[in-house]
Amino acid sequence: MSKVREGVPLRELNTLKLESQATYFLSASSVEEVRLGVMEAKKHDLHITALGGGSNVILSPVIQGLTLHLNIKGREVVEEGTDHIVVRLGAGESWHECVLWAHAKGYYGLENLALIPGSVGAAPVQNIGAYGVEIQDLIAGVEVVDGLCGEAKTLTKEDCAFGYRDSVFKHEVGRHWLIVSVDIRLSKQAVCCTEYPGLRDHVSDDPMSPENVLQAVIALRKAKLPDPLVDPNVGSFFKNPIVSQSFAKQLKATYRDMPQFTTHDNQTKLSAAWMIDYLGWRGVEENGVIVSVNHALVLINKSALYASQITQFAGKISASVKATFDVTLEVEPQLIGSGC
Ligand code: EPU
Repeated sequence: MSKVREGVPLRELNTLKLESQATYFLSASSVEEVRLGVMEAKKHDLHITALGGGSNVILSPVIQGLTLHLNIKGREVVEEGTDHIVVRLGAGESWHECVLWAHAKGYYGLENLALIPGSVGAAPVQNIGAYGVEIQDLIAGVEVVDGLCGEAKTLTKEDCAFGYRDSVFKHEVGRHWLIVSVDIRLSKQAVCCTEYPGLRDHVSDDPMSPENVLQAVIALRKAKLPDPLVDPNVGSFFKNPIVSQSFAKQLKATYRDMPQFTTHDNQTKLSAAWMIDYLGWRGVEENGVIVSVNHALVLINKSALYASQITQFAGKISASVKATFDVTLEVEPQLIGSGC
């Protein structure tokens, strides 16, 4: 197939700016092109790796098989009621641009998820969440192409098996589904979600409006999280660990300032940033990688070329957390290819 290219560098397609090369590469801008890519991969017995905005991946130096860049654009209203609207967003759309677009149209609900880097198609994969809202709260459906046979289908929210920074797309059963568009249910009435600790104080309530929530979230993120276009990063490098309430209580007895949050299923979410910060990692640099001085959960690539330089340093950080707190940190972005 003419559009498939060989030996394509991926440095500009991952926000960590790691050196990586796709053995075969196809940028698909329509569902038909995705299906053609799947057929071609099948014919030549190539494994498919889906790539979106590259903002939540750690790429190994070589990605074998076919790297399929999901670059499908489009924003359309597919359902409208008196109070709600369902919009279909192409997987290759910029997430933040879509948040701004929906808000400007008067379709509310995405304000807390402003400024999250990456594409629409990547949003359900890690169930993006910020300031008290997760994308799973708003998903009406996800259109996919099966990477094994090229068949198109629509997944319900239940099919997606969402969890904290988790979904079916990260697991064996759904890893081969290629997301081509996402349906999101929004409100035509103003909604403001300000329960997240630290957000309420930043939202102007004169008047309390989605516009003010949007501005507060943008200001908070800009103050704390480095812009991947300036400082290569993938946002939070580790997930916040979830532990039993009894273990959390033991930790709290020793570390009185440790932030803890009760989850909906009565477990306790710990703050990975706080533990990393407590251990003095903020601002520490190794292998050309630095722990952001503004947020201990973010690793910035200053000069590392390869994934292993980042994962080795991250391994040291998580080993120190394990040694002190007996808590295991899980890496949040997806490791792609062997050699990470
Ligand atoms: N904290 C520190 N040191 C730091 C940074 C934070 O002690 O360097 C403490 C804060 O004082 C606070 C706690 O850690 O008590 C939590 O901090 P924050 O509100 O920034 O949230 P987070 O749990 O570190 C999560 C998400 C972020 C999301 C924010 C806001 C994960 C893995 N990360 O971070 O998501 O923006 O909440 O909702 O759940 C991302 O996924 O890439 C991401 C940036």
